[in-house]
Amino acid sequence: MSEQREPDDDRVEWASSTHQVHAGYEPWTRQNSSVVPIYQTASYEFENHEAARDIFALKRLGNLYSRTGNPTNAVLERRITALDGGAGALALASGQAATTVALLSLVRTGQHIVASNRLYGGTVDLIGDTFADFGIDASFLDPSDPAAWAEATTGRTRAWFVESVDNPLGTVPDLRALADAAHALGVPFVVDNTVATPALLRPIRHGADIVVYSATKFLGGHGNALAGLVVDAGTFDFLASPQRWPQFTAPSERFGGLVFATDLPEGTSPFIAYARAKYAHDLGPALSAHSAFLILQGIETLELRVRRQTESALAVAVALERHPKVARVHFAGLPSHPDHRRALAQLAAAPAVFSFDLRAEEDEVGPFIDRLRLFSLAANIGDARSLVVHPATTTHSRFTAAQLAAAGISRSTIRLSIGLEDPADLVADLEQALLRVEERTAA
Ligand SMILES: Cc1ncc(COP(=O)(O)O)c(C=O)c1O
Repeated sequence: MSEQREPDDDRVEWASSTHQVHAGYEPWTRQNSSVVPIYQTASYEFENHEAARDIFALKRLGNLYSRTGNPTNAVLERRITALDGGAGALALASGQAATTVALLSLVRTGQHIVASNRLYGGTVDLIGDTFADFGIDASFLDPSDPAAWAEATTGRTRAWFVESVDNPLGTVPDLRALADAAHALGVPFVVDNTVATPALLRPIRHGADIVVYSATKFLGGHGNALAGLVVDAGTFDFLASPQRWPQFTAPSERFGGLVFATDLPEGTSPFIAYARAKYAHDLGPALSAHSAFLILQGIETLELRVRRQTESALAVAVALERHPKVARVHFAGLPSHPDHRRALAQLAAAPAVFSFDLRAEEDEVGPFIDRLRLFSLAANIGDARSLVVHPATTTHSRFTAAQLAAAGISRSTIRLSIGLEDPADLVADLEQALLRVEERTAA
């Protein structure tokens, strides 16, 4: 082990206050822990002055400070890179931080994003409100119409953004069609793969250049930690039109004249290095190593959980579709869903987050939800527990009536996230709560 240092004999002479801080731990010794250790550290001991200087100058890879990287987080970054077939990844404190950092790395003040009009409400707040405050414009369009996206694209457009399966309605856009249209215009295609996860879909295979995740959801899988991930496919050629991408192709004054696209150590993704060195560093949305550990542990069972959850979701969706008090089930796994064929072609299965419309007025939503015993009323998805929420008054409550209509969300739409319980118990719980709606509407 080349990293090992000789034990320092002088240490035995040190006072106990010194031992309190140093004894029993050698920063340069590899422990042989089977499970990924939690590196609960803010900083890293540099080998010497030259190493510190080179790591700061991005000339050498190495741990610098936990705001821009941590060895536990690095395992998570390598793991999601492998799962998605990417070139590199950045772990951040939340999905929201991942979307922010990914998009800011591409789009600047005065520039423009084309985004799906079927996105998680927080992403719409970010792109449509906060980015607007910074002078970044956006057009929100129907993802089933790539021609309209191309038409809205101008010389200022620097990203197209879509969810691979949207939250809450579970629609499935044609990723390849969008990717090809974006690339024809020299625009990178960014995909939020939170709901599908790599267990159901690897967006890079369908043309995504950048993939983002809220790892808080299915990747972690237990509702116990916030985390976000940005994955670079390494496919977008920033050097093809260098004047459009000065952040990657021009010498950076701040980084001593470094050109991210050409001057980094072999195997480093310029996009991830830039996102890390500039935005993770400047904005500070660092993922705690403890949370990274929880997400890593969740990922170990991702495929098993997702398989079980998607099978249960299908059973629940079939039961709901037959129910007289359900007007419509928005689950792409059902043959009646308009995206069913695309879901079969693009996904291993329809994800366990989907919605249905009550055949009743909005007044019945509250009594229905309050009657459920197994489904927890919570603003989350992808948990081991089954969850329910009313998007129009919670996750998407800041949408205007027109935005709700464009996203296909009605006042009676209810979102479910199916967990790991027995599907028969989940169906029975929904049926007993629907009986309550039947009784109330009959009275
Ligand atoms: C599809 C999607 N993307 C991003 C986010 C934001 O993730 P986080 O809550 O981890 O910030 C969410 C959160 O619900 C989401 O559902």
